[in-house]
Amino acid sequence: MIRQVLTYPDPVLKKVSRDVSTFDEELHTLLDDMCDTMLAENGIGLAAIQIGVDLNVLVILLPREEDDQQHREDVFEIINPKITAKSGKEIYREGCLSIPEYYDEVERAAEVTVEYLDRTGTPQTLQADGLLAIAVQHEMDHLSGQLFVERLPMLKRKKFEKEWKKRIRDNKRF
Ligand code: CO
Repeated sequence: MIRQVLTYPDPVLKKVSRDVSTFDEELHTLLDDMCDTMLAENGIGLAAIQIGVDLNVLVILLPREEDDQQHREDVFEIINPKITAKSGKEIYREGCLSIPEYYDEVERAAEVTVEYLDRTGTPQTLQADGLLAIAVQHEMDHLSGQLFVERLPMLKRKKFEKEWKKRIRDNKRF
């Protein structure tokens, strides 16, 4: 089921999410709905808090290289993630389903190792680089109530706030 994605400056997006302790049908429905919603909104990642659920749950689904399409079976379902190692630096022009149609460059680690639980509660380790590493870090920021625009340098952040206020004033609803 497609759920509604909360957009900036909804205060719920600032909430710090909590760990999942029960790996039941309710969690599986949440994961399925998150994937449905991400695909419907043409996103490559989504954190549970973006649909108003304050749990440490995220989904990531990158397009395949061979056909540039997202295949649902490739989805990473990442629960209670912890970054255990990071290295390098990479600048990527990010966007976010909670800040539609705004893109800007953010610097993050180029490679990360993430320990997490899958939908059955089984521990998994992911070694990510490239866009996957960027997406994991972006989505994990949501779990601590942070949006990518908060990582922008002061001047860019001010420019964003100005643009966004104008959008709200012009009554452009997303
Ligand atoms: Co986002």
